[in-house]
Amino acid sequence: MRTDNLFNVSGKIVLITGSTGGLGSSFAKGMAENGAVVILNGRNTEKLKTQLQQFQEWGFKAYGYAFDVTDSEQINNAVEQIISEVGIIDVLVNNAGINIRAPLEVYEDIDWEKVIATNLTAAFKVSRAVVKKMIEQKSGKIINIGSMQSELGRATIAAYAASKGGIKMLTRAMAVDWAKYNIQVNGIGPGYFKTDLTKPLYENPEFDAWLCGRTPSNRWGDPDELLGALIYLSSAASNYTNGQMIYVDGGLLAAI
Ligand SMILES: NC(=O)c1ccc[n+]([C@@H]2O[C@H](COP(=O)([O-])OP(=O)(O)OC[C@H]3O[C@@H](n4cnc5c(N)ncnc54)[C@H](OP(=O)(O)O)[C@@H]3O)[C@@H](O)[C@H]2O)c1
Repeated sequence: MRTDNLFNVSGKIVLITGSTGGLGSSFAKGMAENGAVVILNGRNTEKLKTQLQQFQEWGFKAYGYAFDVTDSEQINNAVEQIISEVGIIDVLVNNAGINIRAPLEVYEDIDWEKVIATNLTAAFKVSRAVVKKMIEQKSGKIINIGSMQSELGRATIAAYAASKGGIKMLTRAMAVDWAKYNIQVNGIGPGYFKTDLTKPLYENPEFDAWLCGRTPSNRWGDPDELLGALIYLSSAASNYTNGQMIYVDGGLLAAI
C-alpha cells in the first residue's frame, strides 16, 4: 500500500451535525479546505443559510440541511434527501451538542432529557440513518464528539457528563457492531475551546484562570487544533483504528 495519500479526504461526502456552531463550523471549513464535500447542519435555518453562502463564496463544495438531531423523522427524511441529492455519506461527524448547567439536586427532568437527547441519543439516531448505506457500500467513518466529561466530572454539569460518558461507550459499541462492514467509529474528546457553548466559562475570569492553571499547555485550544484528529479519523490513515477516543486537550487529562 502506498502511504503518500493516507490522509486524503478529497471528494469525501461529510455530514457534520451542528456545523453552524463554533467547533462544527471549524470542522466543516477544515474538511472543505482539504477537498471534502461538506454538508452543514443546524436547526436555525437563517444561520445555516448565511453559513452556506459563506462556504460557497469561499469556493467550497457545500450543502446545507436544517434538521433537529433529536427528531428521528426529520433525520430520516434529511438523510434520504442528502443521499439522493448529494450522494452516500462517507463520513458522519456527530457534533451537535448543548449544555444546561445547574446543581444536580435541583436539576429539572426536562433539562436532563434535553441534554441526553441532544448529546447522546441523537448520535445513535443520526448514525442509524446514515449507516445503512455505509453498510451497503462496505465503508464509512463515524466520528462522535465527546469531551473532557467523557472521563471527568465537574460541578453543575452531571447531565452533560453522563451524555459524554455515554458517547464514549456508544462509540465502542458502534465500532463493535459495524467493524465487520469496514466502518470505523471513533471519537474526539476536545478540551476547552471558546464557542457559544463555553461562553459562560471563558467570560468568567475565575474559571479562565483555573482552567489555564489546570491545563498543562496553560491555555484554551484553538478549534483548528482539532482538525488533525478529525482528518486522521476521516481518512484511510485510521482504517484499523476502531472504538477509540482521541483527546485533544493541551494535556489536561494527563495531569491531576
Ligand atoms: N467548545 C468546547 O470547548 C467543547 C469541548 C468539548 C466538547 N465540545 C462538544 O463539541 C460539540 C460542539 O460544541 P460547540 O462548542 O461548537 O457548541 P456551539 O457553538 O454551541 O454549537 C452547537 C451546534 O449544535 C447545533 N445544535 C444544537 N442542538 C441541535 C439539535 N437539536 N439539532 C441540530 N443541531 C443542534 C447548533 O445549531 P442550532 O442551534 O441552529 O440548532 C450549533 O450548530 C458539542 O457536542 C460539545 O459538547 C465542545
